[in-house]
Amino acid sequence: MITREEIAEILRKYDLGKLAIGTLGSHSALNIFKGAKEEGFKTVSICKKSDAIIYKKFPLADEIIFVENFSELLKDKIQEKLRELNTVLIPHGSFTAYLSTEEITDRLYVPMLGNRQLLHWEADRERQKKWLSKAGLKLPRTFKKPEEIDTLVIAKLPGAKGGKGYFLANSPKAFQKKVNEMIKRGLLGKGDVARIHLQEYILGVNVYPHYFSSIIGNDVEFLGVDRRYESAVDTIGRIPAEEQLEIGINPTYTIVGNIPITLRESLLPELIRMGDNVVKASKEIAPPGIIGPFCLETVITDSLEIYTFEISARIVAGTNVGIGTSPYAYLRYGEKMYMGRRIALEIKNAVKEKRVNEIVT
Ligand SMILES: Nc1ncnc2c1ncn2[C@@H]1O[C@H](COP(=O)(O)OP(=O)(O)OP(=O)(O)O)[C@@H](O)[C@H]1O
Ligand SMILES: [Mg+2]
Repeated sequence: MITREEIAEILRKYDLGKLAIGTLGSHSALNIFKGAKEEGFKTVSICKKSDAIIYKKFPLADEIIFVENFSELLKDKIQEKLRELNTVLIPHGSFTAYLSTEEITDRLYVPMLGNRQLLHWEADRERQKKWLSKAGLKLPRTFKKPEEIDTLVIAKLPGAKGGKGYFLANSPKAFQKKVNEMIKRGLLGKGDVARIHLQEYILGVNVYPHYFSSIIGNDVEFLGVDRRYESAVDTIGRIPAEEQLEIGINPTYTIVGNIPITLRESLLPELIRMGDNVVKASKEIAPPGIIGPFCLETVITDSLEIYTFEISARIVAGTNVGIGTSPYAYLRYGEKMYMGRRIALEIKNAVKEKRVNEIVT
């Protein structure tokens, strides 16, 4: 684990008047770069050659470091280059998708906005559960063994990204049938079955609130909400039930994009308190707790109960719906505030107050 002292040592060699904001060129990079530029920072994209067209059409990257694969971020040469450019890295979903938690916490010697320790909490469903329960959030029930299934469950495969291969089951028998099918089709190894995470399926709508935990401002801000647009689950309702049964569809959750939401105002107090409480709990489990953006993944039922099934302690791609502004960012800041810019503003304020050490790890 790279210590905060080691990061402080790197920062001592930085020219804090010339910080650059860098990230992997995918996920929410445009959001981050636009915000950085609006706050007067230079930007650095670690980019795949095949994606360079993005920066031709949207000229937001001052420096582009080309790689074949995002895991090259760990290469000494690239890390040196990033430090040379006085880069603060902004982690997003592609960091954990292309690098392991250990690689990020132990081998990435570039200051990152955020708390690296929380990655260990985020990467593990049991720890996440502990964290979110500690914050007093309502979670879906989980089932230790398939035999315990007594309601509709969502079966989450180990290590699956973006809900790939998840399936629903309503009884131990239905579960076994689906598992056998998947093993037969080579989608699942026999050894993986015991590691399938069984979670109560919450009937309701998906709501993903975005927050920003400001160390400099000592506050948790509520900046936007989105829902995901997932293929194929979001289209299943367009097929009549009869055909659904005939072709035996299983919902899949491949994310294609995000859709902005405004919420019933009566839901805001609880969602805002949930954000505050998650930050409070994070300070106990991994001081100084969440630094910067985070997002909850929730389902809200028809009796307006809010169930949280996941947390991301970093910027999420759903905040891209707020590039420019979102209703909630507008309510707080007026025009032109969004997650990418809020991140840059935090860094700018930290530089001003000589507190950069407090927001990077
Ligand atoms: N308990 C639940 N009840 C109802 N729907 C759920 C539940 N858990 C997950 N889902 C649905 O399944 C989708 C994928 O679940 P989840 O977010 O756990 O997968 P993931 O692998 O973490 O994906 P990602 O990394 O993209 O967030 C969610 O977006 C949501 O639509
Ligand atoms: Mg998720």
